[in-house]
Amino acid sequence: MSAPDLSVNLGGVRMRNPVMVASGTFGYGPEYADLVDLNRLGAFVVKGISLDPWRGNPPPRTVETASGLINAIGLQNPGADVFLRDHLPFLRQFDVPVIVNIWGRTVEEYAAVAERLSAAAGLAALELNVSCPNIKEGRTTFGTNLPMFRRVLAAVRLKTRLPLIPKLAPDLAQIKAFAQAAEEEGADALSLINSIPALAIDIETRRPVLANRTGGLSGPAIKPIALKLVWEAAQAVKIPVVGIGGIATAADALEFIIAGASAVAVGTANFTEPTTALTVADGIRDYLVRHNLGTVKELVGTILC
Ligand code: FUM
Repeated sequence: MSAPDLSVNLGGVRMRNPVMVASGTFGYGPEYADLVDLNRLGAFVVKGISLDPWRGNPPPRTVETASGLINAIGLQNPGADVFLRDHLPFLRQFDVPVIVNIWGRTVEEYAAVAERLSAAAGLAALELNVSCPNIKEGRTTFGTNLPMFRRVLAAVRLKTRLPLIPKLAPDLAQIKAFAQAAEEEGADALSLINSIPALAIDIETRRPVLANRTGGLSGPAIKPIALKLVWEAAQAVKIPVVGIGGIATAADALEFIIAGASAVAVGTANFTEPTTALTVADGIRDYLVRHNLGTVKELVGTILC
């Protein structure tokens, strides 16, 4: 049997394999380029970019937990123009689709950054970050408010022809409604989940560990929650879904694919093992060979229940 086909068409983004690196966990490329062959990634998702530069939250910004990481970076970034001038040229040297995670504080800012980035060559898609738990205009304004979610999506849709991938909040009660709304407003794919709002306390000072007080929990602790939400979202829509949440092994990724994800993103695991996305892709290939499957597409959504 010939080697299995791992390629995926994610709403117009052609990926050599279904494993991408998640926004905010791989910088803008140079940080990892000496450690990982970026040409072997399915796609590269850039840290959230806004129209103007943004300082993010004061430190401390991260704290490890028993089975994950809480972060409250606050979407620090250099702004769209600096990204296009100083960072995109580096990434464009590689044969990997570049997806830019975008955000704004208002509907107009989302639309403006989408328009600005869409005018540049070399981007494969925009991931619409409406789910950051660490800025007040993030998750609660857009990611868990269905009318606002629709408004921001519709406004961005008007400004870009690039594939649009809203990144959903882990809204346990309304995930199907958000997934369907995204599809109705013209999204080409979905990614989920973003990190889960969380708190860590220093018992000596009795203060929150993070300067922002709360942050977003990611890593292995959230995988089963993410898996359930991906399973539910994938059943609710026809557009492809990217599964995110605690993926560190091929077995983790395969669970998401069997649940209905067409692709997956490795996030927190990149901090401990930068080559995780590559070993996950290799492990998916081995699984397909063992199970006599010619393509990864055949496995998507094959959960039996
Ligand atoms: O705080 C942060 O920068 C996190 C971003 C996100 O979860 O989207």
